[in-house]
Formats: sequence, structure tokens, C-alpha cells
Amino acid sequence: MRDPLVDLLMRNGFVAPEEEATELRAAGGDLDALVARRLTGEPLAWITGTVEFCGRVIVVQPGVYVPRWHTESVAWRAVARMPPGGAGIDLCTGSGAIAAVLIAERDARMIATDLDPLCVACARANGVDARVGDLFDGETGPFDVVTAVVPYVPTSDLPLLQRDTFAFETTLAYDGGEDGLDLARRAVEGARRVLKPGGALLLELGGRQPETLALDGFVDVRTILDEEGDPRGIEATAAPG
Ligand SMILES: C[S@@+](CC[C@H](N)C(=O)[O-])C[C@H]1O[C@@H](n2cnc3c(N)ncnc32)[C@H](O)[C@@H]1O
Repeated sequence: MRDPLVDLLMRNGFVAPEEEATELRAAGGDLDALVARRLTGEPLAWITGTVEFCGRVIVVQPGVYVPRWHTESVAWRAVARMPPGGAGIDLCTGSGAIAAVLIAERDARMIATDLDPLCVACARANGVDARVGDLFDGETGPFDVVTAVVPYVPTSDLPLLQRDTFAFETTLAYDGGEDGLDLARRAVEGARRVLKPGGALLLELGGRQPETLALDGFVDVRTILDEEGDPRGIEATAAPG
């Protein structure tokens, strides 16, 4: 006989019903209440309280952007570019997932910013020195690595996101302005100022944005691909001297 919870999730259109059933049961507490929340479309990580990211368990509190699997490729490139004990800043940190990975993998000295106080509290719960602030928030570095998953969806494309997205999440996490690159441009400009010569900027982007973003002052610019070979961002090196 099939598991009734798996059946219910499948009938309601969840694409990984077995995995979700396992996670919901492991979360503890009133299973019926947890399942009822999930059936509204609330993100699974908000219900279970955690998500796996780069092989680590990341705390994700309700209201906080859930780190996505495709961001792992950006995080792993940041790990590759971070010297042991190096310094970095994670802009738009959300749950602090990328910074937490850099701390764990490289013993990096990370600071992180987000405009949303809920995100800052969550990043702190993940052991990240996070503060409420706009992008660099006046930080001058010098840093070995700048990471940023800024909002990058063009404003006119916001209605094309999944139906439930804004039932639970805010446009603050997605809205990148007219062409989606408003914050990305500011991140590039700021990174140029705060990176050590030879330091790395890792920036997640969408669609064809990696081809269109100007990266003056950077060399060795590469597109970051996810494990399915799709472009997910750029890796760029601050020009020496
Ligand atoms: C797409 S989410 C990325 C979160 C996290 N880096 C991740 O990959 O899971 C973008 C985040 O940027 C934050 N944000 C938006 N505008 C910002 C700004 N000007 N300065 C700092 N954070 C900002 C949002 O609150 C949101 O948490």
C-alpha cells in the first residue's frame, strides 16, 4: 500500500513527494498542521526550519529567501577563490548560506548585509556576522572575495514568477529594476572599490545577463555554469594594481 502522505502530496502536484514526506515527518511536531501549511504552498524550508546547501544544514526562518540549489555553483566558486582565513563580504545575504559555507570551508572572516532584518537575524542564527544595510553598507574592505545574489528579475517579469511566489515572499528578494541589473551594477561598482587586486567577485545573474553586464576594472571574466550547464552568474577578478 502506498504511503498516504506521499499520495496526498502527489495529488496536490508536489514534484518530490517522497522526499517532502520524509522531511515533514522528520521536522517533528503536529504532522497534520505541518502538512496543512505545505498544502498552501508555503516553502518547505520555512516549515521544517532548514535546507541543505553545499552539503550543510542552513537554518531558514519563515520570511527568509530559501537558498536555491543553483546558487551552490556560485558558492563553490567563492570557496575556490577564498584563501584560508581570508576576508569576504556577502551582499544580500538572506539566510547567510553563502557566507556560512565560506566560514565552514575556508575559515573565512565574513561580514554580510541585507536590508531585511528577518534575514539578518536568520544569517546570525547561521553563525554569520550580518547587519541590516544596503549592499556594502559603507564597508571598505579590503576583501579577498565579494559574493552577491542580488535581486535580478526585471520588474516587468515579476508577474511571470511561479504563482505562489509572492503569496509568501517579498519583491525585495527579486526585483532588480527595469532590466534586472540595477543592484548588480551597484555591486560591481562597489566590488571594484573594496576588493584586493586579484580578489574575486562572484555574482549570480539570470538568463543572458552575464553577457550584458559591464565589468570595467575586472579581468578574467567567466560565466559560472550550474551542474546542468546553465549560466548562473559571473566570476571576475579585480584588475591588479
Ligand atoms: C535573491 S535573495 C538572495 C539571498 C541569499 N544570498 C541566497 O542566495 O539565498 C536577495 C536578498 O537581497 C536582499 N536585498 C534586496 N535589496 C537589497 C539591498 N539593496 N541591500 C542589501 N540586501 C538587499 C533581500 O532582502 C534578499 O534577502
